[in-house]
Amino acid sequence: MANMVKKASVFEILNHWITAVSFIILAVTGYGFLFHLEQLNSIFGNFNVMKDWHNWSGVVFTVSLFFTIFNYLPVSLSFGSDDIGWIFKAGGYFSKRAAVPPQDRLNAGQKLFYLLLLIAGIAISASGFVIWLMPGVRKWVLLSHLAHNISFDLLIIAVPLHIYLATLANPGTFRIMVYGTVPIEWAKKRHAKWVQKMGF
Ligand code: HEM
Repeated sequence: MANMVKKASVFEILNHWITAVSFIILAVTGYGFLFHLEQLNSIFGNFNVMKDWHNWSGVVFTVSLFFTIFNYLPVSLSFGSDDIGWIFKAGGYFSKRAAVPPQDRLNAGQKLFYLLLLIAGIAISASGFVIWLMPGVRKWVLLSHLAHNISFDLLIIAVPLHIYLATLANPGTFRIMVYGTVPIEWAKKRHAKWVQKMGF
């Protein structure tokens, strides 16, 4: 068994699954509303039950988004020259020969994904609560529909890309969200700066 290093705590793992599952329920039920998918209504029972699933998954998503702040915000805000270098080299995804600068616990792409998730997540949650709880305030409801749709468009592009990058595109990454650990050699290649900080 290779020497392992801990990359995610049990709390981070649990919270990530709560974010992921609630997001997927929100996306599926949200598409149900958008395209009037009658078949989906019947899977959930009826339209009102599907709406309840959407609203309450929104509550779960919002709470889990709040907890991500402790897990990912400090590292995502520590943006330096190595992160800029990573972006200019596109993380080495387009050329195996590109020398990519050493990365922290999250690479620059992951940091940007998190910051996008946080901003779009706050917008989609806040606007969702206005639509749900303040239906009489017409001006706010209209603005909220716009914010809800724009943030949904951003997330529905970014999240599948995140899932692809965290699974098929980077073998060995998915285990972080199951076990929280990765082999040290794997981490040295992808997160050299972080491994060094950890004293390995
Ligand atoms: C269900 C499929 C998903 C899989 C397989 C997956 C996988 C992963 C993995 C393996 C990591 C750890 C990456 C690392 O530490 O190097 C991660 C991190 C993360 N995931 Fe997911 N994820 C999924 C869904 C989601 C969803 C739906 C969201 C948000 C709506 C999300 C948000 C995040 C965030 C913010 C991070 C930390 C930043 C990053 O690594 O990009 N994930 N995910």
